[in-house]
Amino acid sequence: MNLEENSIISKDLTNKDVLLRVDFNVPLKGNELLDDERLVRALPTIKYIVEKAKSLKIITHLGRPEETGLIQDQFSLKPVAKRLSELLNKKVNLVNSLEDMPYKEGITMLENVRFFKGEKTNGDELSLALSNLADIFVMDAFGTAHRKQASTYGITEFIKEACVGFLVEEELKALEKIVSSPEKPLLGIIGGSKISTKMKIIDSLTNYVDHLIIGGALANTCFKAMGKNIGKSLYEEEFVPLAKKIINHSKIVLPEHVVVSKGGETNAQEKNINDLDDDDIIFDVGVKSIENFASLIADAKTIIWNGPMGYFEDERFAKGTAGVALKISQASGYSIIGGGETLASFSNLNMMDYVDYASTAGGAFLEYIELGTLPSIEIIKNKNLGK
Ligand code: 3PG
Repeated sequence: MNLEENSIISKDLTNKDVLLRVDFNVPLKGNELLDDERLVRALPTIKYIVEKAKSLKIITHLGRPEETGLIQDQFSLKPVAKRLSELLNKKVNLVNSLEDMPYKEGITMLENVRFFKGEKTNGDELSLALSNLADIFVMDAFGTAHRKQASTYGITEFIKEACVGFLVEEELKALEKIVSSPEKPLLGIIGGSKISTKMKIIDSLTNYVDHLIIGGALANTCFKAMGKNIGKSLYEEEFVPLAKKIINHSKIVLPEHVVVSKGGETNAQEKNINDLDDDDIIFDVGVKSIENFASLIADAKTIIWNGPMGYFEDERFAKGTAGVALKISQASGYSIIGGGETLASFSNLNMMDYVDYASTAGGAFLEYIELGTLPSIEIIKNKNLGK
């Protein structure tokens, strides 16, 4: 992608209403943000627009709510708008409807765009309504650029001008390094709990990497496919057939030891995967497994990591993620991490300095590696080419 022609820098924002799509899909505990890295990384674009344009309207999604058209409190952006306002030291007006968007001054943020009918299906009606809110669309939600939805894709078809923000530019430059000619051996590490999104990608990732370590809930689905007793651990039955195909691949590396508990405050215990009780729940990869991963990490020239190894939010189950990160920090290969959960785990455990680059994207990061492009960026590029 020719970044210059599609960059926000190439657009004149003077006296214009700007609509900015960001990815503020951040982990929350009640009303508290567990991590604000995605907000912090969007600040250069936000500040630039505030300085140059007439008004700024911000759109993001949060989680995966039902598209009912109604505000659902647990997916509300209230805590996000509050944190953004603190970071900017400026008021951020959070509004519930598109009708309220034009009438506020300064920075306006629309409630979770996934409450609105037509977002997920990339509906024309919503895309058009969003495009009517501004003169120019700035796409800076790199983490959501793989979704062909109204606020990431459809809007570009209708709005007069579109470009990408500074975060998208930075991400594309960093990922280019590992997409065009990654130094080999290339080690992939994948974990986390978004089984449905990631299982499909694992299959194609095996064509790209030399070894692929699987942890988190993804590993549980693989263990299930191997016929192992995983007790009451999280997995997805629907993906067991695909997992059966994946586990036969010689590049796949699964943990042999896992950390389990019986739930609640019960003790955490490291066990061999063959020794689980019917009421055990897997929460992390075991320390012995990290030792097994160590030589792969040490030998890799490039490491890409997406998704934590366990339920890092609970310190009893953070050692797997922290242990793998420590091995990476001691290795010489070029390392990139990506994903909302991964970023949250790294910043919570103060490990950001352990890696060479931290991408804000998870699924988009993997899809970009797989396909070398993303739909929401491709459509902007085509628009600016006059296609
Ligand atoms: C992410 O966190 O990966 C992005 O915000 C995309 O979220 P989604 O997988 O719910 O589309």
